[in-house]
Amino acid sequence: MKHFKIIANWKMYPTVADAHIMATSIRNELEHLEEVEVILCPPAIWLTEVAMIIHQQIDHLHLGIQNVFDQAEGPFTGEISAKMASSVCQYAICGHSERIEHFREGPEFVNNKVHATLKAGLVPIVCIGEREKNSKSKDKLIGKLKQLLTGVSKKELNQVIIAYEPVWAVGGNRPDSPEDVEKIARQFKNAIDVDLSIVYGGSVDDKNARAFLDCQHLDGLLIGRASLKIKDFVHICRQAESIAKKSL
Ligand code: PGA
Repeated sequence: MKHFKIIANWKMYPTVADAHIMATSIRNELEHLEEVEVILCPPAIWLTEVAMIIHQQIDHLHLGIQNVFDQAEGPFTGEISAKMASSVCQYAICGHSERIEHFREGPEFVNNKVHATLKAGLVPIVCIGEREKNSKSKDKLIGKLKQLLTGVSKKELNQVIIAYEPVWAVGGNRPDSPEDVEKIARQFKNAIDVDLSIVYGGSVDDKNARAFLDCQHLDGLLIGRASLKIKDFVHICRQAESIAKKSL
């Protein structure tokens, strides 16, 4: 039976008024999902605002933070720890490619964030993907995945979500092919040998989402731009619900 996770990464876009309207529409439109968990990742400063809107008796709507620091507390001006985030959300994106590109985060730092996230009781959404379109290498990707998950126990791995996000596909208009994504998802699952949750991200929209949701080894999607268009986002979540129900 399929059960999807659809993650919305609102990045550094919505104002507080936008976040309020977006969260309210999503809550109202997606009140009755059964087989889809929706995880909204607004800018950290609006997490509390969004939490107040979505946590009103809807248990398939959850919140995530777009980034955390790897320390629990200390003199780190401007940073937010996973421990702090855990009082308002349930998930944390770790190592998004935009953080790697603009803030030079390395794999060791991302691995530390994964540990900090798990220690705080949050579910890490660990991003991984090759930089260039024609540089997909199974061995390199699996090596990188193992590096990002170093020291994570088997029990903890059952909670982790892996977001396969080819860097070249994020923020452009050229998604990876569902066939390639399916192949990578299967290889990740075989390599890690636990029932990992794997989602795909990179130029997903309301037209191509179905083809990814139909992939046997994929457990959901991480959506950037299309998650800012609420009509499109709601449509994707409804498609996921209908595919999941058909798989029952
Ligand atoms: P995109 O972003 O859907 O706009 O390509 C994906 C992401 O940020 O993970």
